[in-house]
Amino acid sequence: MEALELASFAHIVFFTGAGLSAESGIPTYRGAGGLWGSYDYESYACQRAFDADPNKVWDFHDERRRRMAAADPSQAHRIIAAVGQSHPSVAVVTQNIDGLQQRAGSTDVIELHGSIWRVRCACHPAPQEDLGVPLEPRSCPGCGLWRRPDIVWFEDPLQPEPIARALAALETCDLLLSIGTSGVVYPAASLPEIASRRGSRCIEINPEPTQVSSWYDTHYREQASAALSALFPAFDFG
Ligand code: APR
Repeated sequence: MEALELASFAHIVFFTGAGLSAESGIPTYRGAGGLWGSYDYESYACQRAFDADPNKVWDFHDERRRRMAAADPSQAHRIIAAVGQSHPSVAVVTQNIDGLQQRAGSTDVIELHGSIWRVRCACHPAPQEDLGVPLEPRSCPGCGLWRRPDIVWFEDPLQPEPIARALAALETCDLLLSIGTSGVVYPAASLPEIASRRGSRCIEINPEPTQVSSWYDTHYREQASAALSALFPAFDFG
């Protein structure tokens, strides 16, 4: 595996999924030990389920908040943050909601699927940060309506602003590193193809092949931290 020379690239994009946080102890959604193997997402991660039984959905998300709060950024998160601090044009586009990339030091993360650390309600749609574990109160202090996580549930529309920013990044990058995503949830999963069609250098880091592996010119079938340490040895935190 050859080290990448940062100076060789003008615009770098890290496109990340749940596999990036696997080494921090956060379960992925699919594959061995995946969350959706134990929970039916239609009962825990969609507006209809929330409307039917908000406490059940909050119990599920509070357990995820607890687990994410107790986790530490991995070496992979830290390498991505270090690259972002060492190069003038690095975009981190994530499907993750755990906030670990920000805790590793990245300051401008494009969160396609929102953040479990923000909540909103029907009366106050502007997301508010709330790091409480568990979230208390579950109802909005202002209007008394249920607060819900500011994350993209199944059948939710994606927020236009992060999508627009992600599109701009993928339409200009000359290096794309996709890390830890199965590439099966659209529209997010379609974004890397933009860079691939433009002839950018495209690298997939995933122990398993995916449905979109053909978009990438290089595949590292390794864990995120091992692959990123070899690609960016100057930032190997050991
Ligand atoms: N390093 C790199 N990749 C890994 C690692 C690791 N240590 N461990 C697992 N992976 C890979 C798996 O092989 C898998 O392909 O990470 C991928 C995780 O896939 P998913 O669980 O499907 O996660 P993701 O692609 O982020 O899911 C997309 O689906 O449920 C929705 O909204 C949710 O954002 C999520 C979206």
